[in-house]
Amino acid sequence: MYSTVLTLHSLFRWLVLLSLGFAIYRAYKGYTSKSPFSYLDNKVRHWTATIAHIQLILGILVYIKSPIIQYYFSDFKNLVSDWNLTFYGLFHFILMIGAIVLITIGSAKAKRKKTAREKFKTILVTYSIALILIFIAIPWPFSPLANRPYIRAF
Ligand code: HEM
Repeated sequence: MYSTVLTLHSLFRWLVLLSLGFAIYRAYKGYTSKSPFSYLDNKVRHWTATIAHIQLILGILVYIKSPIIQYYFSDFKNLVSDWNLTFYGLFHFILMIGAIVLITIGSAKAKRKKTAREKFKTILVTYSIALILIFIAIPWPFSPLANRPYIRAF
């Protein structure tokens, strides 16, 4: 169960990044060209938030099942100084949840805005900040913070 969820969580990052990138691109184009907020724009707003929520659920499952996290909280006082554990136990957890909350707020606010320009601007700002947070908190093979492979095989 743990390794399957971890693999799914690892793979799902690409969908999170692609959907966010596409939503930001469409919001930027729509905002700068003063386009109407189309049916597709609304679907992209909605599905980007949904994909982030699925990743949140996978993340919570990984968090509950992870031997690293269990070990971390078995002796938190002493292990909090171990960055390799604190990266997943706190840093990754807080930044990712923060980013997903931002996407949720951005999506809900954009939905309620009256004009197309306001909708595009809300998506552009909130999704871009979320993308930056997510990018920093992913353990890329090149990250100075923590390293994992680009693709985890089943
Ligand atoms: C957009 C959101 C997120 C992205 C893109 C993301 C991405 C990743 C990636 C790429 C890994 C490395 C997987 C591997 O070893 O191959 C990872 C590990 C992990 N993630 Fe996330 N994550 C996200 C959100 C979350 C959330 C919200 C939580 C907790 C509630 C979480 C908990 C964890 C844990 C505990 C690990 C390490 C598990 C272990 O090695 O035992 N993630 N995440």
